[in-house]
Amino acid sequence: MAIQWFPGHMAKTRKQISEDIKLVDVIYELVDARIPMSSRNPEIDKIAADKPRILLLNKADMADDDINNLWIDYFKKQGVECIKLSCKSGEGIEKIQPLTQKILSEKNRKRKDRGIVDTSIKAMIVGIPNVGKSTFINKLSGRAGAKTGDRPGVTTGKQWITVKGDFKLLDTPGILWPKFEDENVGFRLAFTGAIKDEIMDVEELACRLLEVLSKHYPDNIFERYKIDCEGLDSYDLLEEIGRKRGCVMSGGSINTERCANMLLDEFRATKIGKISLEKPTEEM
Ligand code: G4P
Repeated sequence: MAIQWFPGHMAKTRKQISEDIKLVDVIYELVDARIPMSSRNPEIDKIAADKPRILLLNKADMADDDINNLWIDYFKKQGVECIKLSCKSGEGIEKIQPLTQKILSEKNRKRKDRGIVDTSIKAMIVGIPNVGKSTFINKLSGRAGAKTGDRPGVTTGKQWITVKGDFKLLDTPGILWPKFEDENVGFRLAFTGAIKDEIMDVEELACRLLEVLSKHYPDNIFERYKIDCEGLDSYDLLEEIGRKRGCVMSGGSINTERCANMLLDEFRATKIGKISLEKPTEEM
């Protein structure tokens, strides 16, 4: 996960993905259901231009299901094939193969008409770090295996995993780089753990998260910490949470750094609830 995305890495990765794409019939683009926009790299539209693609809203089990459904409608209206998924539990996995067959049926019919015997479907997965690419591959292949390498630009021999019958998945995912279009994108990627917090001020990160939570999920804050957010700014709220949780230093002042780390851990472990940080039509 600790990839430094230098321009050289991006160029190598782009080239590698472009080469792999030539070998497959369909691309599975994995994004984080909590932040489907911020966890997407728009360059895939160019890299994968004419290949059929299915967008997989992964970690749907961690997101607000009403908002998951809004995203599904949004993408469908744009003509993007989309499935909500939880690679960890396997929910949604069963929909992938039938949808793939549906969107490739015309192509396969033409292949058969031309006398091509091999009508197996070959697929590959792409996505930014931490969206669940390895978990997806392991789930589909039924192996408990080691994490697939996250080293950009490293070329290994092509391995195919036979999933079921005529359905094959490329063993190595295409790792896309996160795209920091504005600072909010960076914050959302950090909230969800897609980028390391070490590069951010953890208290600022926690306060930013609390701003979103107190606006959109005050009931979850109340449920978890028994605090009414009304009228509290995010730093006061962080201190209040710290007080409740015993993050107190000698002398009685609040250890806001410890509290910030605890809050982020609890958010990432869905202890504050199933929370989405982006909606299709509205800034959050
Ligand atoms: P990557 O290859 O794209 O970098 O991602 P990877 O599969 O390593 O997944 C990153 C983390 O996200 C892992 O957690 C993994 O378990 C978790 N994850 C993947 N898909 C889902 C999902 O659909 N739902 C939930 N809740 N979690 C998911 P980890 O804490 O890094 O590892 P682990 O201890 O869970 O193995």
